[in-house]
Amino acid sequence: MEERVVSGDANSHDLSFEQSLRPQVLSQYIGQDKVKGNLAIFIEAAKQRKETLDHVLLYGPPGLGKTTLAAVIANEMSVNIRTTSGPAIERPGDLAAILTALEPGEVLFIDEIHRLPRAIEEILYPAMEDFCLDIVIGKGPSARSVRLDLPPFTLVGATTRQGAISAPLRDRFGVLCRLEYYSEKQLTNIVLRTAEILHTDIDREGAVEIARRSRGTPRITNRLLRRVRDYAQVQGNGKITIELAETALEKLQVDRLGLDHIDHKLLKGIIEKFKGGPVGLETIAASIGEEPDTIEDVYEPYLLQIGFLQRTPRGRMVTRLVYDHFDIEIPTM
Ligand code: ADE
Repeated sequence: MEERVVSGDANSHDLSFEQSLRPQVLSQYIGQDKVKGNLAIFIEAAKQRKETLDHVLLYGPPGLGKTTLAAVIANEMSVNIRTTSGPAIERPGDLAAILTALEPGEVLFIDEIHRLPRAIEEILYPAMEDFCLDIVIGKGPSARSVRLDLPPFTLVGATTRQGAISAPLRDRFGVLCRLEYYSEKQLTNIVLRTAEILHTDIDREGAVEIARRSRGTPRITNRLLRRVRDYAQVQGNGKITIELAETALEKLQVDRLGLDHIDHKLLKGIIEKFKGGPVGLETIAASIGEEPDTIEDVYEPYLLQIGFLQRTPRGRMVTRLVYDHFDIEIPTM
C-alpha cells in the first residue's frame, strides 16, 4: 500500500510526534465527549473505592486517539501504562511474561487486540476475570497445570474492528467505548492546540481549512498541520493563513473534503468502469490494484461516513454526492 498523507494509520513520525503532543488528562482531551463523560465517572468511582478500573475496550477507526486515551486513563488513575499489541504477542509465554511483570493497579494496553491469537486469548480470560494465570508446565503425561496469582490490573484493549473480537473476550470488558469521527469544530481546536505547542503562527480560518480536510481524524489533522507549516516556513512568511493552507493542501493533493488521489481513483473507477455500481468489493479492488481488506479498513470507512459510498447486498454504490463532488453528470437510466 502506498503512503498517503490522509491515511488514519500511523507512521513512525506520527507516533513520536503524537507522544510529544499527547493530552495528559481528560480535560485536555478534545472531543469524544460521551466517552470522556463516562470514563470520568468510572475512574472517579474506582479511585474512591481504591480499586482498579474495570477493563476498557476502545474501538473505532484508526487515528481517533485510542492510544492517547489509554495513556490518559492510566494518568488519571495515577498508574503506569505498559503497551503492547496483538500481533506482538506470539506465544503464551510472551503474555505470561508481560502479566507477571505488572505492578498492582497498572494499565496494560493491548493495541490491535483483535489480532491476538486465539490460544493466547484464552490465557487472558482468567487473567481478566480472577487475576490469575493458568500455566502448563512440562509436556505429555507429566504435564501439570499451575495457577499463579497476578496483581490486579486494568486491561485497555484497542481495536479498529469491533466485529473481529470474539464474544468471550468482548464480554470480559466492563467498559466499552466507541470513538467517533471528530467534528470540524473539534478538529479546529486540535489544530489550534497543536499549533500552540509547536509555536506555529496560524489564524482561525487557516485552522478551519486544515480541520475540514482531515477526514474527521486528529492524526490526519496533525500530519496536515506539519506539512502546511513546512510550506508556510519555506514559501510564505511562517504564518498559516487560509490562502496558504489552501495552496499547500492543493499541492499535497488533498481536496476540499480531505479525499486524495486514491479515493478519487476508487470513486471514479466505480463510476467509469461499473456505471456507479453496485459492484463487489473484490472486483473494485482488482480494478484499482488494491487489496480488498485495505479498501474495507482504510479507504471505505470515511467514504461511507460522508455518504459517498453505500454498501448494498449486491455490492458498493457511489451516491449522487460523488457526481456532484466531481461535477460529473448523473447518467439517466
Ligand atoms: N491530539 C490528537 N488528538 C487529540 C485530542 N482528542 N485532544 C487533544 N489533542 C489531541
